[in-house]
Amino acid sequence: MRALPRDDEPPLLTAQALGQAYRGRSVLREVSFQLRAGESLGVIGESGAGKSTLARLIMALERPAVGELRWSGICPHTLSARALRQWRPQVQMVFQDPYGSLDPRWRVGRSVIEPLRALSMTDAQRQQRLNEVLTAVGLEPDAALRFPHQFSGGQRQRLAIARALSTRPRLIVADEPLSALDVSVQAQILSLLRDLQQREGISLVLVSHDLAAVEVLCDQALVLREGAVLEQGATAQVLGDPHHPYTRSLLAALA
Ligand SMILES: Nc1ncnc2c1ncn2[C@@H]1O[C@H](COP(=O)(O)OP(=O)(O)OP(=O)(O)O)[C@@H](O)[C@H]1O
Ligand SMILES: [Mg+2]
Repeated sequence: MRALPRDDEPPLLTAQALGQAYRGRSVLREVSFQLRAGESLGVIGESGAGKSTLARLIMALERPAVGELRWSGICPHTLSARALRQWRPQVQMVFQDPYGSLDPRWRVGRSVIEPLRALSMTDAQRQQRLNEVLTAVGLEPDAALRFPHQFSGGQRQRLAIARALSTRPRLIVADEPLSALDVSVQAQILSLLRDLQQREGISLVLVSHDLAAVEVLCDQALVLREGAVLEQGATAQVLGDPHHPYTRSLLAALA
């Protein structure tokens, strides 16, 4: 069982009434939550609900139309380009398609430690970190010398997770990290993510259609519908006793 953060610990991440609009069309409204170090949030909702938009806002890949995101007291969206580059290594993303993080022309070792370019480290330190993260995701260090097409889908997702881990992030945002994988491989990646949470105390925002994954990995859950928060709270409460009829039907459809 994971050691839960103490109630009096200050939050690592606070979203305050975040909203986003594209070309005048509102796609996300009034999203607020708090995440403490080591805590995890599951984001659930049907296609187009705004889940990836929220993920991009948390990563500071785009600015919110309204609202504020605070990270240990700073607002990433208001940082200068230089300060943002220094902040970025603390937050890493894992995508549905692991090919997105692996350049097909590069030996995978190069892709895995690519995020370290932002940090001042020696080649020997980078090499050591490469070996560490490959081992952490259950791959042999010599995997680094192969190319992406020489791996299975599950192994490629392990490589993408290794890449995310390379900078020792405090938060990983994973957008549907399981949905491109076979069911048996999903279970392996799920248990890898759970191990990493427990071992390294990394916070996780997990966007997933997979309610079992949210149940296993996430302390809190948030249900989005057409950009608005329909339900949020402790995962057991949201999934076990949803208040809104829409959540109930969504959960029934996803289950
Ligand atoms: N860059 C963009 N420009 C314009 N509209 C966008 C952009 N990105 C997303 N949208 C729109 O915003 C809404 C929310 O999209 P988003 O990708 O966040 O949904 P999602 O919940 O991640 O869906 P899915 O489960 O299909 O990935 C959708 O209506 C989408 O068409
Ligand atoms: Mg999405």
